[in-house]
Amino acid sequence: MTIAAVGEPSTVQPTTLDVDALRAEFPILAGSSRGKPLIYLDSAATTQKPQAVLDALSHFYASANANIHRGVYELSERATVAYDGARVRVAQFIGASNDSEVVFVRGTTEAINLVARSFPAITPGCTVVVSEMEHHANIVPWQLAGARTVPIPVTDSGELDMVAAEKLIGERPAMLAVVHVSNALGTVNPIAELCRMARAVDVPVLVDGAQAVGHFSVDVAALGCDFYCYSAHKLYGPTGIGVLWAKAPHLAQMPPWQGGGDMIDTVSFERTTFAPAPGKFEAGTPHIAGVIGMVAAIDWLERQDRDALHAHEADLLAHGTELLASIPGLRLVGTAADKIGVLTFTLSGVHPHDLASLLDADGICVRAGHHCTQPLHRRLGLPATTRASLAPYNTRAELDALAGSLNHAAELFAR
Ligand code: ALA
Repeated sequence: MTIAAVGEPSTVQPTTLDVDALRAEFPILAGSSRGKPLIYLDSAATTQKPQAVLDALSHFYASANANIHRGVYELSERATVAYDGARVRVAQFIGASNDSEVVFVRGTTEAINLVARSFPAITPGCTVVVSEMEHHANIVPWQLAGARTVPIPVTDSGELDMVAAEKLIGERPAMLAVVHVSNALGTVNPIAELCRMARAVDVPVLVDGAQAVGHFSVDVAALGCDFYCYSAHKLYGPTGIGVLWAKAPHLAQMPPWQGGGDMIDTVSFERTTFAPAPGKFEAGTPHIAGVIGMVAAIDWLERQDRDALHAHEADLLAHGTELLASIPGLRLVGTAADKIGVLTFTLSGVHPHDLASLLDADGICVRAGHHCTQPLHRRLGLPATTRASLAPYNTRAELDALAGSLNHAAELFAR
């Protein structure tokens, strides 16, 4: 979403979203923290869950729980149908042409580890081009596989240097692995353009979509990437479940990375053969309830007016940006033209962890630290930052409260 630059009047129109009704769907938001009304501004870490997701989880365990692909009894058949049907639903959700391209994993981190471990082009000494704004989850797995990670530089406003990107991609690395939306800055990267550059020189592209899917529609075919991954818990769904999508020919040439039940074709002491993708990547009993909860989250999200959610988030971002810019000693980090609702900042003279503790005392949940992006923080010359991350269930009043607490902290530390 495009926001007004700091100091400019906001161009975002107030939205028609009924925020009270939306909030009422999230039971936790009526709660308190430190004896104050809860103000949850850490949705980039994990989103809260609507009642529809909580109901789907408890309904599954209360009346439909059984293991899949194994039982001949009705309950198991129903669980199997729900689990296999979820793959079709996820394929629709991300614009995949075939549900066999959808692998269920624990989350984004596991998805990237799977590709780093199994994709044949990733060999010791190969190069993987990443970006300076990557989460550690899109750096360390490649390094563990023996790859050299070479970063696309980030500009001072928190955008990718696209000239440098084209040059690095032109050197034909084994993979371009890049984040769709930065968890630390909120920047939305031009993935389709990067994919065009990569396709021109036959470089496969993996996209870390963890922070994207909950904020806007994603279509993997339109993006033109080879691999896309996300975690359900950033999409209003449960923790411990996520998706790796990959083009079918890639999955076909990738060997299994974990062995066990459900991923085999035949087993003998002499030789084992494997199920075709995606089964060969799903060893053991999967997170069946998680998959069902993820589908409930997708169904819930797609029942919403996504344009209204988007407009409300843009309004919150513009309002928060304006408020924070007026606080003495506050520096906003990440001012890309296209960003989601993430407000990352430092406050002069206050350590981010102390600041987060002060906010916590007011019932405000934010995250402080390096946000699993140490190279980015090194680039910005900052050991740590404080981050307020937004979802459409947040309100202008919550941002006013954040600004009030920050002004108070600024006064306290100025003395
Ligand atoms: N990656 C998550 C975050 O940004 C945990 O907070």
